[in-house]
Amino acid sequence: MPIKRLPMRESVIRGTTILSAQLGAVNLSQGFSDEDTFPEIKQLAIDAIGGSYHQYTNPWGSPILREALARKLAAFNGLQVDPERHIVVTCGATEGMIVAMEALVERGSDILCFAPMYENYVLQAIAAGVNIRTVEVREPDFTFTRDELDAAWTPGMAAIILCNPGNPTGKVLTPEELETVAAFAADRDLLIFADETYEYLVWPGHRHVSIGTLPAAKDRTVTVTSMGKTYSVTGWRVGYLVAHESLTDELRKMHDFHTVTAPHPFQVALARALDLPESFYQRLRDEYWARKEILCEGLAAAGMRWYEPGGSYFLWCDYAALSGDDDDVFAERLMREGGVAGVAGSVFYPNATRNPKRIRFTFSKSRQTVEEASRRLRRL
Ligand SMILES: Cc1ncc(COP(=O)(O)O)c(C=O)c1O
Repeated sequence: MPIKRLPMRESVIRGTTILSAQLGAVNLSQGFSDEDTFPEIKQLAIDAIGGSYHQYTNPWGSPILREALARKLAAFNGLQVDPERHIVVTCGATEGMIVAMEALVERGSDILCFAPMYENYVLQAIAAGVNIRTVEVREPDFTFTRDELDAAWTPGMAAIILCNPGNPTGKVLTPEELETVAAFAADRDLLIFADETYEYLVWPGHRHVSIGTLPAAKDRTVTVTSMGKTYSVTGWRVGYLVAHESLTDELRKMHDFHTVTAPHPFQVALARALDLPESFYQRLRDEYWARKEILCEGLAAAGMRWYEPGGSYFLWCDYAALSGDDDDVFAERLMREGGVAGVAGSVFYPNATRNPKRIRFTFSKSRQTVEEASRRLRRL
């Protein structure tokens, strides 16, 4: 049969998870919790299931959630939005990003991305029929200049993707870097797709600024956010898009014909979760930070160096003192011989001409899991 064959592959990270399970390795590859969610979040879902929220809701998102989000966006992000015009609730940030690409970027256009970058953007771009161009950023601070952005620009470019806080590096963009991106996008008339999935996981000394609050970026930014990571409910599949109404008109149509709505009762439960006090988020950060410290003890003992993350729950590591292997070889050896699974750095560079020799670990797993990984790393 003449079926369509896109040049897509399975997610390497999911593949690593499967191999790691077969080998009995401690899996620090995929960024989500291996624990249950918090009791108060579970209770919110039980309450919502007990209510009358079992049919389709408005495809733009339950009005209850959109109203709660408008309050959160004003208080936390500094974004003044109208829940009727500026928000589209999606099945996670994954659907949000692909909907943004499909609805707003003409097929055959280019999208600019900083590399290393979240693996899914490349695969989503293939599905949406657009091309990823990259600007490589490097340690010690993963910064970039306006000249580098201009050099990467093409006449067919339609958008730039930002992941802030960043996966895989944990980089949090500074206000100056955000201004540079906003000015570049305005001068080149580009959309900005700002993935702010890790907005609540920002470490001391850093501050999360939504690029959509900058005047130059305001009307051209689609903010893409996941609710799965913050509340440890990645399986509920709820995220959302925030944009100017000239953009949400298109986003809504595309979302409606993909999935109609994100699960209705979970939207209601997450609307209530947005009322949790600041102490919930502080506890979350304190706990992840403690796990990060445990993992870093193991990494240091093993002789690895890492980029000190400004946010997210990832550590971007340099293993040069341990091995000269390319990172795919090193990651597999570490899994087989050391019993710890991470993701080879090259996965995050779609256009790389050389092997970056880096490995990414997550500390999103339970304390017990992170402690076991740290113990195994110390034995290397
Ligand atoms: C940067 C980033 N964006 C989006 C996602 C996916 O989010 P969701 O589960 O809401 O689709 C992830 C998950 O790992 C991520 O790291």
